[in-house]
Amino acid sequence: LLSPVITIDGPTASGKGTVAHRVAKHLGYHYLDSGALYRLTALMAQNKGVALDDEPAIAALARALPCRFDHGHVLLEDVDVTDEVRAEAIGVAASKIAVLQEVRKALVDLQVSFRNTPGLVADGRDMGTVIFPDAQLKIFLTASAEARASRRYKQLIEKGISANMENLVKDLIERDARDSARTAAPLKPSPDAIILDTSEITAEQAVQNVLEWFAKTQ
Ligand code: C5P
Repeated sequence: LLSPVITIDGPTASGKGTVAHRVAKHLGYHYLDSGALYRLTALMAQNKGVALDDEPAIAALARALPCRFDHGHVLLEDVDVTDEVRAEAIGVAASKIAVLQEVRKALVDLQVSFRNTPGLVADGRDMGTVIFPDAQLKIFLTASAEARASRRYKQLIEKGISANMENLVKDLIERDARDSARTAAPLKPSPDAIILDTSEITAEQAVQNVLEWFAKTQ
């Protein structure tokens, strides 16, 4: 029998990561940050000097991604890249390689392998639509572009990274457009997903909502 899955999809900086991580912690479930896999592939391509539109070469990197996840740390070829992989520039590069169908295909098995007992919370863009279509609960998190940009701004400032609000809004809108317009697994809610707008609620309120909805599926 397959372990239960909760999918949390949504646009950049909608709060998916925080909410998914906390829900997983509450339930004692595994957590898949699928965006990290696209980010790691992009970082690997950058390190190896592979062009971001070289589909076969990038798919080959994705198919044998030498990454490990260890207590909140992300390792690529045994190097700790936890901070590096979260950089805005890597997010943008990730969204460029994420349009490539062969790259998406190359990452399917790795994503599915995170589904282990007692269960999984998976966050991304296509968790409910493509990777785990049989999930017990599917959430689509949204928030206004302004709310998302100001969250990202706070995160960056807290980390001591300088940020410009105007550029953040522009990058966010561009990245959303690329994620939504692509033909391969575009960002869109699964018809059976619950849409949760987090513009006006805290992450903790969103977590409580998800946990209540999940309890009803049990
Ligand atoms: O979620 P995160 O911002 O880390 O994802 C980085 C990029 O990876 C996204 O902008 C998107 O283009 C891509 N991605 C994807 N499918 C996923 C997760 C991320 O296409 N399931």
